[in-house]
Formats: sequence, C-alpha cells, structure tokens
Amino acid sequence: MSRALARRLEAVRPSATLAMTARAAELRKSGRHIYAFGVGEPDFPTPEFIRDAAARALATSSHYTAVSGTAELKQAICERTAQDRGFTPTPERITVSVGAKHALFNLAAALVDPGDEVLIPAPYWVSYPEQVRLFGGEPRIVETSAANGWRMTPDELARSLTPRTKALILCSPSNPSGAAYDAEELRALARVLAEQSDCFVIVDEIYAELVYDGFRHASLTTVAPELADRIIVVDGVSKAYAMTGWRIGWSIAPPAVAKALDKVQGQSTTNPTAVAQAAAAAALRGPRDEVRHMVESFAARRRRMVEGLRAIPGMACDLPRGAFYAFPDVTGLYGIRHGDKTLASAEDVALWQLDVCGIAAVSGEAFGAPGHIRYTYACSESAIDEALALLKSAVERAER
Ligand SMILES: Cc1ncc(COP(=O)(O)O)c(C=O)c1O
Repeated sequence: MSRALARRLEAVRPSATLAMTARAAELRKSGRHIYAFGVGEPDFPTPEFIRDAAARALATSSHYTAVSGTAELKQAICERTAQDRGFTPTPERITVSVGAKHALFNLAAALVDPGDEVLIPAPYWVSYPEQVRLFGGEPRIVETSAANGWRMTPDELARSLTPRTKALILCSPSNPSGAAYDAEELRALARVLAEQSDCFVIVDEIYAELVYDGFRHASLTTVAPELADRIIVVDGVSKAYAMTGWRIGWSIAPPAVAKALDKVQGQSTTNPTAVAQAAAAAALRGPRDEVRHMVESFAARRRRMVEGLRAIPGMACDLPRGAFYAFPDVTGLYGIRHGDKTLASAEDVALWQLDVCGIAAVSGEAFGAPGHIRYTYACSESAIDEALALLKSAVERAER
C-alpha cells in the first residue's frame, strides 16, 4: 500500500499525440519511411536572429530569474499584446511558464477544486480534460458540430453552464479542428457568459498568428472588456516562431490569479530557463518577416492537404481557418478490410494507413471527435503530395 501510486493518476490518460509520435519513431527506427503528420510542430528552424539572441544571452543568463519571468520578457509580452490584441496588460498579470502547456497546467492547479466543472468544447486539445482530471475536476465536454465549423454556438454554451462551472477553456484557432471564432461569434458567447455565469474563461490563443485567407484573429479580451476580470489568455512562442523546444509560454490573468500562479510555479519549476526567456523576448521584439513567410507556407500546404484529402473517396474535409491541422471525416473508409479486421473506427483507419502507407496521424477519439483524423500540414508539400497519393491508391485498391 505504501508504494501505491497516487490515485489521482488513475483518471488521467497519457497524451495520444505523443503516443503516436513515439510509435512512428519506432517504425522509422526499424527502417520504414514514415510520413509524420502526427506531431504538432512547425518543420522550420527557429529564426536565426532568435538563436543569435540566445547565444548572446548565454553570457549573462546563468541564474534564477523572477519566478514569473524576466522584466524584459514580460515587457515584450505587454507590448506585443497591445499591438496584436489592442489591450495593454500590466506586467503583474503575466506569468511566464515552461510552454503554454505548463501555463495551462498551472491554471488547473490554481483554479480547479475537486468537483468543479470545466467546460471544454469538442473537438479539444488532448491535455485540457486530463489536466482538469488531475486536480479532481470534471471536464464537461460541449459537443459542437462539423456543420457549424466546429464552433460552439451560444445555445450550446448556455445549455452547458451550471452552478458548478469553474471555467470554460476556449481554443481559437483550435487544435485539432482549425476552427476559429470571429469577433461577432465571440461577442455572442460573451453575452451568454455575462448573463449566466461568473466562471473564469481561459482562452488558448497559441495559434493566433496562424490564420489564413484574410481571416482576422479576434481575442475575447478585446471583444468583451466587460469580462476582463475573469478572462485568462494563454499564449506562447512555440508555434508561431518554430520554438517548440525552447519551452516558453505564458498567461495573462487578473492580478489575483497571476499571484496564485506565481505561488504554484514557485513550488514547482521556479522560472523557465533564463536563456530561453531571452530568446522569446527577442522573438516578440524582432522582425515579423519570417513568421509571415511561415504563415504563407502553411497556407499553401493547407490547400494542398485539404485538396488532396478531398480527392480520396470516402474522405470529407473542410478548409480550416487557422492552426496547422486538417481534420477530415473518415467514416467513409469504414468497411475496408485490414488483415482479418474490418475498419470500424477512426483509430482503425489511423492504424491501417500507418501500416499500409506509413502515414502517422492522430485519430479523433483522443480529441473527443470520433470518426475524424488529425493530419498536421506543418511539413513539406512534397511529403503531403506523396503521402496522399499513396493513401488514395490504397483506398482505391482496398478490399471491402
Ligand atoms: C491548443 C494548444 N495549446 C497549448 C499547446 C502547448 O504549447 P507549448 O508547446 O507552448 O507547451 C499546444 C501544443 O500542441 C496546443 O496545440
């Protein structure tokens, strides 16, 4: 009994996206060519001016910084928030963490009591429900529909709020669906929140810079200033600056919440790595050309991926507004024979395409959206073309 693991872990599932990445890496090691559409990170290197800033910071950044981040990085976050979102937070609202995932983890630790409900629209990023469960909370999944572009409607939100709702987690643009809310849609959700609940609203905007076809990212903070005392913005440099390995993310929260986050982080990681903070400050203050170039590349790859998927009989795929994922409905492939099995779920399809075509992608069950598969298009156009040609031919030849 004394060596038993903590019971709270029994409710928590390991990350499905990391599991698929590990499986693909194993197959690669055994000599197979694998098309890596599973992992959610840009294939570009971190821009050189950022790496140069980090190299310079090595000379001066050997010690602890303030738990919630350096004054320099917090100032850069405030300035960029003012430029991009039109509101200027004070540095006391900012907590810099070891990636946006850590910022969200700290928030779960600081806000969720056992029995609290946290609303999470599906499809959702895999870590939201698990982090809530880790602290004894109950994720309450709000079903949305593909027909509505996977965006939660005001009615769906209104029906899901209860007196036990502690927080809503809204991700825009979304991983895995690429859905993004425009200002009007956010305003409609804000009206419901203002009228029906005083819960916290955590907005995950890690993909804010990655939007396409002229879509303008809208932030709830700007659209609904009346909710300012309960909105928490989560953001970071991982996706827009190709800095996943540097592990810098942050939250912008009401001062009392920021203080609580400082307490949580002060008893766990202390500050994120000092050199990485200097690199993140350089990223936020530096030129935007490389980000623009990456966004243009993602936009071209998105079209290629979506058009390629649509050309496969049995696949139905919408054009996402943002992030770097396509999220097709694959139920039309059910019935294909795979050895002595018949494909009957998105997970079956994902394993079949890995076996037959070497394509690694994550099935929708993990995101609360069965019947779908998430394909990352943060990879080369030639990889997209080759893989989808293989997949098309495998579907056309498949026995049913
Ligand atoms: C929606 C969403 N939020 C947060 C994160 C975490 O980002 P970071 O690498 O900064 O921890 C991810 C990464 O995949 C994500 O997709």
